[in-house]
Amino acid sequence: MAPGIGASRYHRSRMDRWHTIIEPFRIKSVEPIRMTTADERAGKLAEAGHNLFNLHADDVLIDLLTDSGTGAMSAEQWAGIQRGDESYAGSPSWFRFLDAVTELWPFRHVIPTHQGRAAEKILFSVIGGAGKVIPSNTHFDTTRANVEFSGAEAVDCIIGEGRSPSVIHPFKGNMDTKALDALIRQRGVENIPVVFVTITNSGGGQPVSLANLRAVREVCDRYGLPLFLDACRFAENAWFIKQREEGYADASVPDIVREMAALADGMTMSGKKDALANIGGWLALNDDRWAEQCRNLLILTEGFPTYGGLAGRDLEAMAAGLREVVQDDYLRYRIRSTAYLGDALVEAGVPCVQPIGGHAVYLDAAALLPHIPALEYPGQALACALYREGGIRGCEIGTVMFGMRPDGSEVPAAMELVRLAIPRRVYTQSHIDYVIEVIRGVAARADELRGMRIVDQPAALRHFTARFEPV
Ligand code: F0G
Repeated sequence: MAPGIGASRYHRSRMDRWHTIIEPFRIKSVEPIRMTTADERAGKLAEAGHNLFNLHADDVLIDLLTDSGTGAMSAEQWAGIQRGDESYAGSPSWFRFLDAVTELWPFRHVIPTHQGRAAEKILFSVIGGAGKVIPSNTHFDTTRANVEFSGAEAVDCIIGEGRSPSVIHPFKGNMDTKALDALIRQRGVENIPVVFVTITNSGGGQPVSLANLRAVREVCDRYGLPLFLDACRFAENAWFIKQREEGYADASVPDIVREMAALADGMTMSGKKDALANIGGWLALNDDRWAEQCRNLLILTEGFPTYGGLAGRDLEAMAAGLREVVQDDYLRYRIRSTAYLGDALVEAGVPCVQPIGGHAVYLDAAALLPHIPALEYPGQALACALYREGGIRGCEIGTVMFGMRPDGSEVPAAMELVRLAIPRRVYTQSHIDYVIEVIRGVAARADELRGMRIVDQPAALRHFTARFEPV
């Protein structure tokens, strides 16, 4: 990745002589991309009801729908797949997984699950319930949904800078500790079973500093509350700490991760992100009583405690992935390549959430398409245009996703974004150069884009299945 294009001070390489940051891997196995024309894609879009979740993935050229489970595994991980031992109990694959997890996250109990939301479901079934409040910097949708499904309330306490797409702040995922303290006093400490911090946060892949985690820990200690991390993208968060936080430039990423772990009492994890695997996750915690209750639920819904909802081979893939994801060469490339896309778009005048986060670039559709009202879904219109023009699949994060209230009425979302999430180790710089070219082309003719109207939608989670037509 050439660092020259608008490289912000946060992403400057520390490599000495040559400035180009290359993909730190060679490609041993390839997956062909089927080329399509704009006319073909217009037809596919109409068939899909202008909902990109309804497309056949073979009709997508560059798939930036999610960075979850879409990464490329290494030769070591594939070797682990062969090595996978499928013993029902006590598989050696389990012990290799356990070692890899606890090397970074030395919690007393590690409970494997088939993915992150299964860990959330189990945890909140045990500690949630009516009348309870779970504070976080930003709850991810499935976390919020699992909290609410238990009857509890999910409350976001993000710093003010984190709510504004254009404000530059090095740790825009930080928790507002004053708001957290006030919430605890207002709702009563007995109603708050745990405080959560999502690293990096789910409002832009923005990092949380160690100083902020320490401040959250202090609040938790003041009230005797446990602190849990939603650690899906922990390695990306650790890299930002190394790059941006005073005193950590020379610290190793594994040491930074262990410092985050030492401040927490537990974690939920999706192995589909920073364990570099296609499936998997875990719940880890220190509390013996909670762990016992969680294991009992695990056996009910996921499986025996040494495999959770996974095959032994999946545990091997995560074990190897955890060792690779904390390597400097990987993280330098990973964070730089996301910024490469974002910086080029910012340079071209395309409005984006800034600074560019770890796993995705978020286009600000409200700013790019001021002529499309929120209830005509500017994010959906932009996402469809990127697919039609260039075969790029992103994801609307705006009024389609958040705008419908339980009574069926609609309100505009706080932001109208299109997320372009970058799968790990999958696309090369020329793929990203193509994405930049397409987005610049679409942005240049933004005033020609029209809004959308919903013709059919379900009662909940409508963004997955709703059908649209252009206004
Ligand atoms: N927490 C965060 C911060 C996430 O981003 C996700 C998933 C989860 C928890 C749940 O993990 O998918 O393994 O059950 N995020 C994906 C995304 C789906 O596209 O951002 P999971």
